[in-house]
Amino acid sequence: MALLEVDKLNVRFATPEGEVAAVNDLSFSLEAGASIGIVGESGSGKSQTAFALMGLLAKNGRASGEVRYAGVDLLSLPEAELNLRRGAEIAMIYQDPMTSLNPYLTIGDQLTEVLQFHKGMDNRSAVAESIRMLDAVRIADAGKRMGLYPHEFSGGMRQRVVIAMALLCRPKLLIADEPTTALDVTVQAQILALLQDLRRAFSTSIILITHDLGVVAGVCDSVLVMYAGRVMEYGDARSIFQAAAHPYTRGLLHAVPRLDRRHVDATDMNSGRLNTIPGNPPNLLALPPGCPFAPRCIDRTTACLQAPPLEVFGQGRRRACHRAIGDLTDLGSPLKFTP
Ligand SMILES: Nc1ncnc2c1ncn2[C@@H]1O[C@H](COP(=O)(O)OP(=O)(O)O)[C@@H](O)[C@H]1O
Ligand SMILES: [Mg+2]
Repeated sequence: MALLEVDKLNVRFATPEGEVAAVNDLSFSLEAGASIGIVGESGSGKSQTAFALMGLLAKNGRASGEVRYAGVDLLSLPEAELNLRRGAEIAMIYQDPMTSLNPYLTIGDQLTEVLQFHKGMDNRSAVAESIRMLDAVRIADAGKRMGLYPHEFSGGMRQRVVIAMALLCRPKLLIADEPTTALDVTVQAQILALLQDLRRAFSTSIILITHDLGVVAGVCDSVLVMYAGRVMEYGDARSIFQAAAHPYTRGLLHAVPRLDRRHVDATDMNSGRLNTIPGNPPNLLALPPGCPFAPRCIDRTTACLQAPPLEVFGQGRRRACHRAIGDLTDLGSPLKFTP
């Protein structure tokens, strides 16, 4: 049995302008210790997918479908039971570390509090365990740094603290929502390498959410590409990086900053970013008919006025596109996948 099985997850928001369908029939499964990347431009439904899994949707949101975690449907758990699992078995880290950190408490107090609350540890063992975890995320001089406040750390260091905090209870599943987006390229690479190491060390499953396909390369076993709340493509990372089967995925791959050109200006990700997909994702309240990506798609035909079904092909791969894979425009050599 997979650790996590998401089956036809739907997220709807009630708004004065109408119902927003933020996530539609999203399904994937994640084995213990495995990692999946959920990728798509801003507004594609990535964060709401994570919030739905965590039972943290906004008040006007509603999730339906099934989210089986170790066989238990999280969506039908009473709030109190979900609270116990949240943080302990399933932890989440956010783009902005300050979402998880209290500016007025030392990080030592914040870390030990987690262990006291979830594990009922006494102060002494909680301190020892917190220091061990800060060591694990490679914060030097951990004992001394326990007495510092969040603002005394750099952005990258703060994100390490948050990762340490998320891993304190040894969760089986870690959901990381754009954990490196706010960091510069070098620090980003360090944090990703750290996540990868921790995944192995603690055999934690990871859901890595990002708008940047380059970030999942080398970190994730499988990839789920979303657009306008729908799954465009899903499959194992290696085959998607070798032969993406959806024009949207191909566009994203092409938009990945190439490592060999990063020296042009390493401080500005955008200047190294080639060929972004022209246009913008649609307003979910005014979706085009059929495939939501069609208006921006270089491979669209009149068939795309009907929404394509998510077809299964190859080895457990899925894609939602009417065009034959062989007929898709070849955008040239995209990011090279390094396993
Ligand atoms: N509370 C809300 N009410 C209405 N719409 C929402 C709410 N929260 C998110 N949405 C909509 O859901 C869509 C998906 O958002 P999100 O999952 O946050 O995107 P992203 O892929 O950038 O993480 C967005 O179009 C957003 O406007
Ligand atoms: Mg988001």
